[in-house]
Order: sequence, then structure tokens, then C-alpha cells
Amino acid sequence: MIPDTLFDTQKDVDNQLIPKKLHYGHGDDVDAIIRAEARKLIRDAGLSKSLIQHAEGVARRAESVCRMLEAGDHTVHIEKVVIASLLHDIGLSRPHGLDHGEASAEILEEFGLNNLAELVRVHVFPQLSHLSLEAKILIYANLTTGPEGKPIDAGTKLHFLRQLAYNWKDEKERSLALKSLQVKHKIISEIEALIEKAMVNR
Ligand SMILES: [Fe+2]
Repeated sequence: MIPDTLFDTQKDVDNQLIPKKLHYGHGDDVDAIIRAEARKLIRDAGLSKSLIQHAEGVARRAESVCRMLEAGDHTVHIEKVVIASLLHDIGLSRPHGLDHGEASAEILEEFGLNNLAELVRVHVFPQLSHLSLEAKILIYANLTTGPEGKPIDAGTKLHFLRQLAYNWKDEKERSLALKSLQVKHKIISEIEALIEKAMVNR
């Protein structure tokens, strides 16, 4: 669990300036973290200014997608998606392999944030199209948010994955990238169709 030292000051805790912690999951697998703590985690990890702006942009985009889908009667755990969005690239703060989603997940697991780890783990190389709606929203928000947090076309963002899928030297990683590319294309159409439907039914 996140230690209290993550709070900026004990005074914040005492004065309850920090909103109620997010609790979800069950049994031993409960994550308890709020947005302010997630922001502190990525700052303390040493993520660059541009990556922090990207994470904030992904979180904003993810929240707006969640709210649109909620209006269309979908049940989405908004805080979970927003906090995972803030944390999704934390793995870039350490030496990492091709899959920094895995690196991010490992860091979150060190903090006992296992549910969030599950969500961020699949954002680089998702292999299954039947992911949770939360995971899909995060992937979609990431694909439509550029390096400084500005909106970007998903096609542009997929350029790197496409390069990997067709030109990467390692065959195993190449097929991993190709599968992820297909899954991400599916997710984009699925989320956009859900948004459209939600907007029509408003
Ligand atoms: Fe990422």
C-alpha cells in the first residue's frame, strides 16, 4: 500500500485537504491511491516534464471519454482509469526493454498497486482484444494524446508500432508488435463507436 510519506505534508493529511482515497478490488488486492499521490509518484520517479504533460493529457482525455460513455449508460471506474493514465508511463523513468508498459506495471506492483499495474501493463503491447473497458479507454486516450499532452491523431501515434511490426530485427518482438497493432486498431474503432453511440443517445 502507498505509505503516508507520499503526502506532501502531514498537515495535508490532518486537514483532510486530500480527498478520500480510491479503494477498489477485493481481498488483499485493494489499491488505495488518489490523483495527488499518483502525481507525486511520477514526479518523484523523475519523469521528464514532457512525459508528465503527456500523462496529464492522457488522464484528461481518458476522463472525458469515461464521462461520455457514462452518459451512454456504461459503467466505468473513472478514478481507476484517470489514475492509471497518470501512472502509465512511470516505467520510462527506469532502464526498460521494448515493453515499457511491463516496466510501469512492475513499479506499481512494488507499491502494491496491483489493479493499476494490470491496466498499465497492456498499454504498449496489448495482445487480447477482450480487455476491460478501462484498459481500452486508457489505450485509446494514450493513442490520441501526443508527447506534450496535446491531442494527436491515433494513426500518427501508431507509426512507431507499425515500424516495429514490419521492420524490427527480432522476429518474436515483430509478431508481438503486429498483434498489438491489430488489437489497437480494433480498440480505436470500438471506443469511437461507443462514443458515437453514447452521444446519439444523450
Ligand atoms: Fe507509454
